Amino acid sequence: MTISTASVSASDCKLRLRVNEPGCRINPNIYGHFAEHLGRCVYEGIWVGEDSPIPNTRGIRKDVVGALKYLHIPVLRWPGGCFADEYHWKDGIGPREKRPTMINTHWGGVSENNHFGTHEFMDLCEQIGAAPYICGNVGSGTVQEMMQWVEYITSDAESPMTQLRRNNGRHEPWKLPYFGVGNESWGCGGNMRPEYYADNFRRYNTYVKNYSGNRVERFACGANGADFNWTESLMSQAASHMNGLSLHFYTLPTGNWSLKGSSTVFGEEEWHSTFVQTLRMDDLITRHAEIMDKYDPSKRVGLIVDEWGTWYDVEPGTNPGFLYQQNTLRDALVAAINLNIFNRHCDRVTMANIAQTVNVLQAMILTDKERIRLTPTYHVFEMYKVHQGATLIPVELECPEYRLGGASLPMLHASASRDAANRTHLSIANLDPNQAARVSLTPLFASLKGRLLTADDISAHNTFDAPSRVHPRQIDEFERDNNAAAVVIPSKSVLVLELE
Ligand code: AHR
Repeated sequence: MTISTASVSASDCKLRLRVNEPGCRINPNIYGHFAEHLGRCVYEGIWVGEDSPIPNTRGIRKDVVGALKYLHIPVLRWPGGCFADEYHWKDGIGPREKRPTMINTHWGGVSENNHFGTHEFMDLCEQIGAAPYICGNVGSGTVQEMMQWVEYITSDAESPMTQLRRNNGRHEPWKLPYFGVGNESWGCGGNMRPEYYADNFRRYNTYVKNYSGNRVERFACGANGADFNWTESLMSQAASHMNGLSLHFYTLPTGNWSLKGSSTVFGEEEWHSTFVQTLRMDDLITRHAEIMDKYDPSKRVGLIVDEWGTWYDVEPGTNPGFLYQQNTLRDALVAAINLNIFNRHCDRVTMANIAQTVNVLQAMILTDKERIRLTPTYHVFEMYKVHQGATLIPVELECPEYRLGGASLPMLHASASRDAANRTHLSIANLDPNQAARVSLTPLFASLKGRLLTADDISAHNTFDAPSRVHPRQIDEFERDNNAAAVVIPSKSVLVLELE
């Protein structure tokens, strides 16, 4: 496809890649995901059971595995979320028909049959090629239970736990590189004060051990959005005990939890306010990182943004406890902006996990029984996977603002990196829904190609009948003169360029 810069009315912008000033390594785990026992994420979205007519491998749906594998998901967080602090792992092992049921009190009060447990989760991770990140139960679980879970998974020694694992069909231990010591302990995970949680973290964490050569990184529950006092307390009281501290921040178009806004029915005002909200992520990371710097100047402790993404009012007619929402072009831009932000903070942000993988919140995949479709957010993750493990290249941008009402936003939002094969990738989102940007790029690269994600409407989304309405297109012709190349970035779009 040729983008002609002559025919398009566009704002003039300049973008300079500071190729001689490479920054930090972009940890691939920034491109992580999160799957909770919530609504139709695990059950139906991932797990259909071995007897299902939906094609599956040991109960896990093949179509979903295929799509997730293609994303190169580096790490998957499970089993929650709020669910983690009421989950008792021993209920989810052994013959499935004998596993007890429980009530999923947070998410719709539905019965959970525990058919998807530790073995099934580890199998899923192996099938999609992701590292497991398990979140343990501090809120309603015991220290012994947490200790035994890690032993069950990772130890090779002779012990009742390892015998139990072998009896359940797994001889070799698994590797477990990441473990969360509780989730949202300031809320659904126990309503604790930071000082009390800091002590609990120190206590539980003591018993999360390294067995048989496995090295597990332990993450403490971190702040809710702008709760800087939480970060201050945790860092001052427990920094030396942790490998990571989490942060949760969701994007609500209205910023109001009782009326968040619809996922598909919105106008330009809500399009704009969604980006105002999502851009807060940058400031939050900067401010939490400043506190972390005080106690950990060498940046040993990672900031783990293990829940982020859009959160809208649920789709009309669906269970309010299932958090099912549509995913439009707006979500694609939210994903692009946040991934740019995480890339740019790669000196401190070492992992991020979008919520959630299938059928919940800002999902990659939506399913309806045997049918599956990929969301615009999926496509951004797929386009951006080129940044995984690459070295950050700082970007300088000069561009008009995108203004609406009294508020103004940067029209373009970008990040860049150079990979091991010396290719430079530049990802740019154009937030303006009405105006294209004509970007002159320096320095001049010999070859330029790219992929573009856009659509005719701000609320465009993929449906089972029109699954490719929002789908990336290849671009391989650009304008160039002696010193610079020019590229037109259409309004409301995400572009990823490869420069060599
Ligand atoms: O992702 C949905 C929920 O949001 C998680 O269970 C919880 O940790 C957060 O409040």
